Amino acid sequence: MRNILEIKDLSISFKLEDGLFRAVHGVNLSLEEGKVLGIVGESGCGKSVTAMSVLKLLASNAVIDSGEVLYRGKNLLNLSEKEFQRLRGSRIAFIPQDPLNSLNPLYTVGDQILETIRFHRKVSKKEAGRLAVNALKDVKIPEAENRLKEYPHQFSGGMSQRVLIAMALSCNPDIIIADEPTTALDVTVQAQVLDLIREIQRKRNTSVIFITHDLGVVAEFCDYVAVMYAGRIVEYSDVRTIFKNPLHPYTKGLLESLPSEGKGELKVIKGQPPSITEQIPGCVFHPRCPDKMETCDKQLPQLSNIKDSHLASCFLY
Ligand SMILES: Nc1ncnc2c1ncn2[C@@H]1O[C@H](COP(=O)(O)OP(=O)(O)O)[C@@H](O)[C@H]1O
Ligand SMILES: [Mg+2]
Repeated sequence: MRNILEIKDLSISFKLEDGLFRAVHGVNLSLEEGKVLGIVGESGCGKSVTAMSVLKLLASNAVIDSGEVLYRGKNLLNLSEKEFQRLRGSRIAFIPQDPLNSLNPLYTVGDQILETIRFHRKVSKKEAGRLAVNALKDVKIPEAENRLKEYPHQFSGGMSQRVLIAMALSCNPDIIIADEPTTALDVTVQAQVLDLIREIQRKRNTSVIFITHDLGVVAEFCDYVAVMYAGRIVEYSDVRTIFKNPLHPYTKGLLESLPSEGKGELKVIKGQPPSITEQIPGCVFHPRCPDKMETCDKQLPQLSNIKDSHLASCFLY
């Protein structure tokens, strides 16, 4: 299988008042063409920062300490903003977490989709209009022609997210990065939007990086999954394997906290993940780990291949 995107040894820090603090530690990830890679972990573990580095949308106080982001073999981190603008939106598209704040309230939905289309594709206004109508039809927004003339406030959360998905798809991207695309939506709408993204992904064979804090969503949606904790990948495998045979105590904890039929009381992982300013000796998960051993607060376990491309960073293995 061909990798369309490879993240290699990526480390990112943030400048804060009292120094430079690392949020992403030596992350390696590959996205195979036509596959969905999930990145899962609790809030603050570095999922968005990792994704934003691929989109070159990091905050101004971010520093890339090391690493490469290779798109079809080309290092995106070396491209100028101007060079990157052509890729962002056309080849690599983004579906954000918060649809309501991602659309400009002052312009009609149609104008915003048209602008995206015309920025990336040399088409007449009329042709762009036709593409915009099709884009809304693709995401199953009824009465597409009329709705293009409306403003974002006239759209519900779910419908706004469909508009953003339509915008992301309007230039036929190779890669979609979806950062918790349903977290801000009502539960019933979440399922519809997920179904939509999945249907489109399959139909177009798009490669997707799907970020979520919910392993339940990963099960339905992803081919591969990387579990992140405190800025590091602690486990990686194909989805079936991780549900059948989770290795890292953190992954096990996430699975035990998933609601499911017939399960009694849900377990939660005790404690909180550390902030980027906290220094933890040894394994960063040891303060919360039910399987903590002698070495765990002294040495940092490396992410290594345990069996058949199933990676984990834990001294148990
Ligand atoms: N601009 C910033 N300045 C300082 N710290 C940041 C900034 N952006 C993110 N962080 C920190 O980096 C860590 C990872 O954040 P993020 O990737 O947004 O987490 P999540 O997994 O919830 O998406 C968090 O501890 C967060 O507080
Ligand atoms: Mg996030």
